[in-house]
Amino acid sequence: MRIFLVTVFINISLVLLLACIWPHANAQQLSPTFYARRCPNLQNIVRVAMRQALNRELRLGASILRLFFHDCFVNGCDASILLDDMATFTGEKNAFPNRNSARGFEVIDTIKTRVEAACNNTVSCADILALATRDGVFLLGGPSWTVALGRRDATTASQSAANSQIPSPFADLSTLISMFRAKGLSPGDMTALSGGHTIGQAQCFTFRTRIYNDTNINGNFAAARRANCPPTGGDAKLAPLDIQTPNRFGNNYYQNLVVQRGLLHSDQVLFNNGSQDALVRTYSANNVAFYKDFAAAMVKLGNISPLTGTSGQIRKNCRLVNVD
Ligand code: HEM
Ligand SMILES: *[C@@H]1O[C@H](CO)[C@@H](O)[C@H](O)[C@H]1NC(C)=O
Ligand SMILES: *[C@@H]1O[C@H](CO)[C@@H](O)[C@H](O)[C@H]1NC(C)=O
Ligand SMILES: *[C@@H]1O[C@H](CO)[C@@H](O)[C@H](O)[C@H]1NC(C)=O
Repeated sequence: MRIFLVTVFINISLVLLLACIWPHANAQQLSPTFYARRCPNLQNIVRVAMRQALNRELRLGASILRLFFHDCFVNGCDASILLDDMATFTGEKNAFPNRNSARGFEVIDTIKTRVEAACNNTVSCADILALATRDGVFLLGGPSWTVALGRRDATTASQSAANSQIPSPFADLSTLISMFRAKGLSPGDMTALSGGHTIGQAQCFTFRTRIYNDTNINGNFAAARRANCPPTGGDAKLAPLDIQTPNRFGNNYYQNLVVQRGLLHSDQVLFNNGSQDALVRTYSANNVAFYKDFAAAMVKLGNISPLTGTSGQIRKNCRLVNVD
């Protein structure tokens, strides 16, 4: 009887233990301490490398942030954007939103090399990108947030999904709202995340129609932008997404929107007598509110359909699927 009861107790304990462990091994469950024992120096390696990258070129913080956004919007945050074209699939690098535009890949390669040297076959490219993004934003003066880890890397990529699921700079508000909704992000998340355009640059072809043909644009601003973006030709000429401080994270982006100085059509639709006007006004006046909401929305962005458990792989080279 005694032995029977003990056995029952042990069995119940085992079931309870498994019930606790199972979801972590299986479901989409990420954890900030995922590598704490297997790669204790990971966060330090990433932080140091991002500091070095920004010392070389401040824009890289913006470029890495955009890589992460474009990765997470296509089959989740699985480092699919980092894959070169392979014999078995056409990758995302040459999809329309990325071709001649997505940049910063070498920074991730450098970090991956250092992380492999410290912790062989352990840390995914998807997690490296998530950490590098957080550090880039923080080092440029933005908010910080805790990055949950444990993502694994895709073994395939989808150029067609990149073409259809990453929003266009010519999109109107209802299209932006539905494209973010499709990823589990609310209109408010979308408006906060668009504040990523407080840093970085855009090419003439992405804002030409706006500066020549949109009517909801400040006249002096349009004239200044036209000076370096002709009606035809000069497609790759750059302009800062945030005219004042393109290398400094802050709420200037929203202050620009309120005075009709959004660079992209898709920026200005957030403040155009529509549903996001009030939130834009709030962020334009309250940097603390913007930072709080941006950080929370970045966590949500980073949680989009990660590969976990035994799905996917830990790539040895972020550009290539493992051969073995
Ligand atoms: C709301 C829909 C969005 C649209 C339509 C959009 C569109 C664009 C376009 C057209 C560019 C310029 C690319 C080029 O000319 O090469 C750009 C740059 C950028 N985007 Fe977005 N974007 C959106 C949302 C986001 C989000 C959510 C983030 C991050 C949270 C983000 C971060 C950036 C950054 C940092 C850059 C500058 C990159 C660099 O300088 O290398 N964007 N975006
Ligand atoms: C890394 O791991 C692989 C296989 O797990 C092994 O072949 C290789 O020698 C390891 N490299 C180092 C530097 O430990
Ligand atoms: C502006 O609109 C006119 C009339 O629709 C069009 O012909 C022209 O190509 C547009 N310009 C730009 C730069 O988009
Ligand atoms: C909003 O509508 C008012 C009244 O129609 C107009 O004067 C104003 O320019 C519009 N504002 C924006 C940002 O479109």
